[in-house]
Amino acid sequence: MVAVAKKRDEFQAFYTNCNHITAYMIAMLDCKDGMTILEPCAGNGAFIDEIIRQQCNVYITAIDINHESISNLKKKYSNRTNISIQHADFSLLNSAVSYDRIIANPPYGAYQTSEKKMQLKVAYPGIYAKETYGVFLIRAIELLKPNGRLVFIIPDTFLNLHMHQGLRKKLLNYKIDSIALFPSKFFPGINFGYAGLSIISIKKEAPENNWRFPIYKGFNSSEDFSCLLTQQKNKFEIAQLNYNRLQKNPSKSFFFSTELWISNLFEQNLPTIEYFCNVVTGFYSGNDALNLRRTELVTYGLKKYQEIDSQMICSGDQEMNPSPLNGIRDDKCWIPIVKGGNKRFYKPSEWFMDWNEKTVANYKIDKKARFQNSNFYFKQGIAIPMVSSTSITGSLLNRRLFDQSIVGVFPRQGQEHLLMFFLGFFNSKVCNSIIRTINSSTNNSSNYIKKIPILIPSNEVICKTADLVDDLYKLATERKIIESDLQMLNEIFDTIYSVR
Ligand SMILES: C[S@@+](CC[C@H](N)C(=O)[O-])C[C@H]1O[C@@H](n2cnc3c(N)ncnc32)[C@H](O)[C@@H]1O
Repeated sequence: MVAVAKKRDEFQAFYTNCNHITAYMIAMLDCKDGMTILEPCAGNGAFIDEIIRQQCNVYITAIDINHESISNLKKKYSNRTNISIQHADFSLLNSAVSYDRIIANPPYGAYQTSEKKMQLKVAYPGIYAKETYGVFLIRAIELLKPNGRLVFIIPDTFLNLHMHQGLRKKLLNYKIDSIALFPSKFFPGINFGYAGLSIISIKKEAPENNWRFPIYKGFNSSEDFSCLLTQQKNKFEIAQLNYNRLQKNPSKSFFFSTELWISNLFEQNLPTIEYFCNVVTGFYSGNDALNLRRTELVTYGLKKYQEIDSQMICSGDQEMNPSPLNGIRDDKCWIPIVKGGNKRFYKPSEWFMDWNEKTVANYKIDKKARFQNSNFYFKQGIAIPMVSSTSITGSLLNRRLFDQSIVGVFPRQGQEHLLMFFLGFFNSKVCNSIIRTINSSTNNSSNYIKKIPILIPSNEVICKTADLVDDLYKLATERKIIESDLQMLNEIFDTIYSVR
């Protein structure tokens, strides 16, 4: 029976009372007699108990910010002269003492006052300090002796979330030994707000350029962690990450996949979509309930959004208007806007924005509005909804306005001939597999789309693909497109990306 029980307090105290996980972490810590060990957020002492159970002859310093935890720990270990207990805020601790080993289950995203947030921002430049676990990890590395080791249990979001690129950059200055990934449901009954957790083990040593480390995944239960301490660990190794490759990747994202073609793709250091296209998010009026209207075809938001009177719709092509970015003087001043929602190749105009001259002037100064990337409004490009239901989709913008739930992809000058090729790509299974490797959630924000590696085939293949996409686009305008129509498109991109 696995002993897993977690409790919570206002300091994000989810206790690591899981024997298999604590035993694995202490084994990875590799304590030797006489070493100094730090537990910077000790809680009720789960790791200290395991160190004692494994009869390591070491000196332990336990820190916690919570007075109650400190007084409990003092009672619990009162007869142990090798354990010193300190009340402190570890994230702002100034200490001249360094340690051979550090082990922690730090607080994840714990609440911070605005004053503390400011202090952390100054103390940890480049680190996303709102997320406390990153701050704890960096501080712990600083307090490790040269060649020291640390083992932390933290959410897996540091692997590829854009905001953690500063943290990844710092981690790559040291030797990551391994990362083991597992679902947070291994700790039942606790809602962490994180689906995936990880155990990261780091050695404070400068890595060689070709340093590699394994990623372990696929555990059925926490009991499987004991396999990682035996030869059986190979069956959980799903990838080896190479520092050479990680260092070349501008965001230092830890991409890995069980599929060989994806791993090979990220090894190649190819140009990404950003090289060929501008990738930007769209417009927000600041008050859509007032400024946005829908056609009768829209089936949601019926109460919030008024139906558009077709007489008020601007009849002209916005590009023909000499200054569409300054609004329209005419009464017919409502213009089509492309919003989220997954449709392939073509999206009919179902939403309209008030583009009256005065209203537009207001969008430009209203603090709640976002008149962003306006040089791309009314241009031809591809609309990709920021959130995909089942898979990523793309449709032609057809010179319409696009809202902030859309990422607009606009071929750069000289790359316009690739528009239909890219439209096909964003509707392919290949693209979906790549974006889900870059970010495993359903989020397709521009920061992730920008990282998609692009392979450009011969002109002949580009033209053949564009012809097919033209046909698919026409089918989509007639609402005749079905999933099987995509088979040929998927075959083309499977060949380009060597999917086996
Ligand atoms: C996730 S719990 C882990 C406790 C214990 N290490 C375990 O695994 O069972 C986090 C602990 O960090 C403590 N904590 C939160 N913020 C802290 C800070 N700034 N400095 C030190 N400890 C902190 C909390 O009081 C809590 O005991």
